[in-house]
Amino acid sequence: MSTAYPPGPRLPRIAQTLLYATARPRLLTAMCARYGEVFTLRLLPPYAEHLVVFSRPEHIREVFAGDPADMHAGEGNRVLGAVMGEHSVLLTDEAEHARARRLLMPAFAASALRGYRGLVEQIATEHVDSWTPGAALHTLDRMNDLTLEVIMRVVFGVSDPRRRELFAPRLRRIVNINPLMLFGGIWPRLQTLGPWRRMRENQDALSELLYGEIARRRADPDPGGADVLSRLLAVGSGDDATDVPLSDAELRDQLVTLLLAGHETTASALSWAFHELAADPLVQERAYRAVLDGDDKYVEAVLKEAMRRRTVIGGAGRKLTREMTIGGWRLPGGTVVSTSILLAHRNADRHPDPERFSPERFLDGALAPNTWLPFGGGVRRCIGAGFSLMEGTVVLREVLSRYTLSLPPGVHGERVRIRNITHVPAGGARVVLTARPREDAPVDPVCEVSPTRT
Ligand code: HEM
Repeated sequence: MSTAYPPGPRLPRIAQTLLYATARPRLLTAMCARYGEVFTLRLLPPYAEHLVVFSRPEHIREVFAGDPADMHAGEGNRVLGAVMGEHSVLLTDEAEHARARRLLMPAFAASALRGYRGLVEQIATEHVDSWTPGAALHTLDRMNDLTLEVIMRVVFGVSDPRRRELFAPRLRRIVNINPLMLFGGIWPRLQTLGPWRRMRENQDALSELLYGEIARRRADPDPGGADVLSRLLAVGSGDDATDVPLSDAELRDQLVTLLLAGHETTASALSWAFHELAADPLVQERAYRAVLDGDDKYVEAVLKEAMRRRTVIGGAGRKLTREMTIGGWRLPGGTVVSTSILLAHRNADRHPDPERFSPERFLDGALAPNTWLPFGGGVRRCIGAGFSLMEGTVVLREVLSRYTLSLPPGVHGERVRIRNITHVPAGGARVVLTARPREDAPVDPVCEVSPTRT
């Protein structure tokens, strides 16, 4: 059987690349409507020369179940190299990836999550205390502040808040870049120009801060510390003497990966959830009742449905290291295959009435496998999946127990913007907060208008 790429648009490569970088959801939706559930995009670096997009559950299963030696996710994530560093768990493959994952996973295992819950509750309360009712709250910014503080505490432990404050603006600047900035990692000459130069300088300054923190902690270790840095510094010493200790460069790359991957994504999911709740008073009322009843399942379903209806990460890529057949297509080695989270979540056969925001989907029986995949899958499934669901549920509960949410006057919907690699609400998912009279008082339905949708 000879190799052939599935059909795709005939637009020049540069046009496809620009559309992919700046208008991805619209491009993918249009291509799926035109070519069906498998199609090929031809792109320029830093993206793949041939990107074959899959969204059928059977095809997604084939990709996620593939041998990691045949399908390199690290190579598929090369676009993130300049930011995360070559040792990052997101950028490596096979043995190096397996080692990084083995060392990082315990910090996000179920037992560790139970330990973080109290911390997340405390930080959520402090942040929500500082909000002013009545004004339109930019929930994306507020959630980024909150989730950044949470992940910094989880990664660094209870170190001096003034030290954490040094990191925050540097990390925010990285999160805030538009996808075109990622081209700087592939074409180093770009790094001499305005925005790319500033991005490089910011990354260098962040690395310096991280190396400083690593040196400080090496000099004054906390052997029993539960934070990620203490755990990683303990590798290869004491009880864990079987492993090779991590170098400073490895530590830097894993820390920056967790700090970035671990906050912007959850912040985006939460801000989409607030937008959807503000747009749908009936769902919001049900979520409030669930909070009063201590029913975390429904609150978590709100978050899961926000991740379905408003995709946070659009897809998970794998670069084929050899010729392979996927979805019946014989593809040459070097092809990048993408499981499209965005298209899988919008498929009307698997998610009836996909535009409707309905947390009940996650309560009425289990969803079919590979139809809800916000965290990717297989050996590369997101390390922080359980953590972000726990964090998001705690934050939603804190906000819903104290406020009703409504859309600001004149706001009816929210468009998507890609920031770095995350799909965020373009207008920041602004909502107006109204303080609830008493935490345990029964509430009147907020209003009866039907929800508005984009
Ligand atoms: C709503 C929140 C989140 C979403 C939607 C999300 C989504 C994803 C996706 C799609 C992947 C790629 C999976 C694949 O290739 O199959 C991923 C990987 C990863 N995520 Fe998340 N993530 C979230 C939160 C977090 C958090 C809180 C952390 C850390 C605390 C985290 C750390 C990571 C890491 C380290 C990887 C790389 C895993 C590997 O390559 O082995 N993520 N995430």
